[in-house]
Amino acid sequence: MHKKLFVVLMALSLVLSLGVASVTTAQDLSGDLEIFSWWTGGGEAAGLDALIAKFTEMYPNINIINSAVAGGSGVNAKAVLTTRMLGGDPPDTFQVHAGAELNSLWVKAQRMEPLNDMFEANGWMEQYPQGLLDLISDEAGNIYSVPVNIHRSNVMYFVPAKLAEWGVTVPATLDEFINTTCPALLAKDVTPLAIGENWTQSHLWESVALGTLGVEGYNGLWDGTTNWTSPESLAAWENYGKLLDCANSDMNAITWQDASKMVVDGAAAFNIMGDWASGYFIELGLVPNEGFGWAAAPGTDGVFMMLSDTFGLPKGAPHADNARAWLNFVGSAEAQDLFNPVKGSLPANTTADITNPEKYNAYFQSAYEDWTSNTIVGSQRHGAVAPTAFDSGFLNIVGQFQADRDVTTAAANAAALAIQTGIGG
Ligand code: GAL
Repeated sequence: MHKKLFVVLMALSLVLSLGVASVTTAQDLSGDLEIFSWWTGGGEAAGLDALIAKFTEMYPNINIINSAVAGGSGVNAKAVLTTRMLGGDPPDTFQVHAGAELNSLWVKAQRMEPLNDMFEANGWMEQYPQGLLDLISDEAGNIYSVPVNIHRSNVMYFVPAKLAEWGVTVPATLDEFINTTCPALLAKDVTPLAIGENWTQSHLWESVALGTLGVEGYNGLWDGTTNWTSPESLAAWENYGKLLDCANSDMNAITWQDASKMVVDGAAAFNIMGDWASGYFIELGLVPNEGFGWAAAPGTDGVFMMLSDTFGLPKGAPHADNARAWLNFVGSAEAQDLFNPVKGSLPANTTADITNPEKYNAYFQSAYEDWTSNTIVGSQRHGAVAPTAFDSGFLNIVGQFQADRDVTTAAANAAALAIQTGIGG
């Protein structure tokens, strides 16, 4: 009796393992797979390429169409995606941030396929942090995308040897940056802060808001408990304006990579950017703590402002089986260990090899330490806490502020935008 049961179980496990093998290494999947993202630039394209190379090895008969649209932070890609999604022409899979960017638009519009079966089959319910699962789920518990990473938004970069040469230290607070570091560098004809095009300004704004308002005040902007026109919120705009005064005047004309490169080249002292800049520096051949150094953006030490890049499966994807194979792959620890050391991010899958310093250099070890010990807040600019409608309007407000520095108008416009886009409602 027991022996029979054993034989049956063995047969069953053989069938199951063959079944699984056919999902993960099938040679019979063929045709196109269109992957939509905005990863075309330094550091970013390399991460995507690393994923595509391995996937192509696993699925040699699938023809990948890499439809990445240039423009950091998806500023151009999101517009193209919206036109395609609403026009009934979805790609097979697309990059989308965990949180409001996914939920308040695509999930709400019922354009995404739930992926719970995939999460359960792969054991991902136990392998992804609960907080992250919450950001990719609706209230009924349906999961709508597969995270590939955890990025940090509030990072300040510099070159240690250059700071020593200029006689400045890393400012811990906004006040120190504005009143001590900035004037000291200006006196030496060094640009204190490198900033790039419009979206990188909005990126800077969220770190300044966090540094001015603190965790509770910053979170309150997104849950409606912080008044957008309170004296504290006005102070965030004041600080932000003072930082713009410490920056390169050609900011609107340069990309995030250009701004990061200014720091590496010694043309500017600091840059506040997401840690995709670490990926870019690594691509440039720089060694962490030597070629580049980092700290939390001023006033934000102990806080990790997070965002997560994910891929989803839109309803009506022309090659849904191929897209599922891609999603099964990118969610795995193996894929994430190929992608993240190049991209500059932490793996989202907790069974990845993040604690291995051979794979993940000193930058990642430090980011991981912070990720696992800091207070976590979500990034506005990169979709975690505010809907895309807010984000688009906020880019305009920041653009106008860059030109006129009108604190009262910016704060009032942001307050109105928050109401219009349902924030805190
Ligand atoms: C973010 C994205 C990152 C990186 C960055 C710059 O929105 O999450 O992966 O691509 O934009 O383009």
